[in-house]
Amino acid sequence: MNQEKIEKNVGLLIIFTLLVIIWGGLLEIVPLFFQKSTTQPVEGLKPYSAVALAGRDVYIREGCYNCHSQMIRPFRAETERYGHYSVAGEFVYDHPFQWGSKRTGPDLHRVGGRYSDEWHRVHLRNPRDVVPESNMPAYFWLAKTKALDTVGKDIDAKMGALRKVGVPYTDEEIAGAKKALEGMTEEDVLIAYLQGLGTTLSNFK
Ligand code: HEC
Repeated sequence: MNQEKIEKNVGLLIIFTLLVIIWGGLLEIVPLFFQKSTTQPVEGLKPYSAVALAGRDVYIREGCYNCHSQMIRPFRAETERYGHYSVAGEFVYDHPFQWGSKRTGPDLHRVGGRYSDEWHRVHLRNPRDVVPESNMPAYFWLAKTKALDTVGKDIDAKMGALRKVGVPYTDEEIAGAKKALEGMTEEDVLIAYLQGLGTTLSNFK
């Protein structure tokens, strides 16, 4: 079959174009599944605690990712502002990732420890109280809902499911998950999640 035949036949052209794209895609993607730098956790990385995991679910439910990325790119403008760029090994226990790409607000990957819990509390209830020009919505109701009634209801089952895909939770951690959430509000667990973000690499120079 010569080139002219393929170029003049739309059906063949589509089939061969697809084959080329699939082959090229596989060549790029498949090696990533076997590379240590993308599959091994960075040193010291721990799975999310039950509390932080519940907070992560609040983050997803409220759509925080629509305005916030969690992916610091390796450019000076980013690292000067946010800290060390994000590396793949920091996300191996994230299912799914919260990388995002929309930045109405700042990147949050290294926000852990940047502010006090109290700052987050005020900020989540009404962002304008701490950042007057902010257009972030207020999430005041999070402080009124107990985490165990919503995101924490099946926290042990969620941890069990994550364990199946490779997150090393122990039986004790799963058994104690609900107890760890006792009395906490959705706001408490969300702040616990935010305070842990990106902290594993924080001493990395
Ligand atoms: C409509 C877009 C929008 C949504 C949705 C949104 N934010 Fe924001 N966020 C912003 C903007 C803009 C800022 C910068 C101004 C400020 O600090 O309030 C910000 C700032 C922040 C900061 C401070 C970051 C820093 O480094 O100073 C945190 C923490 C934060 N948001 C968390 C959240 C969480 C958690 C949610 C979901 C419950 C959320 N945001 C939802 C727009 C948004």
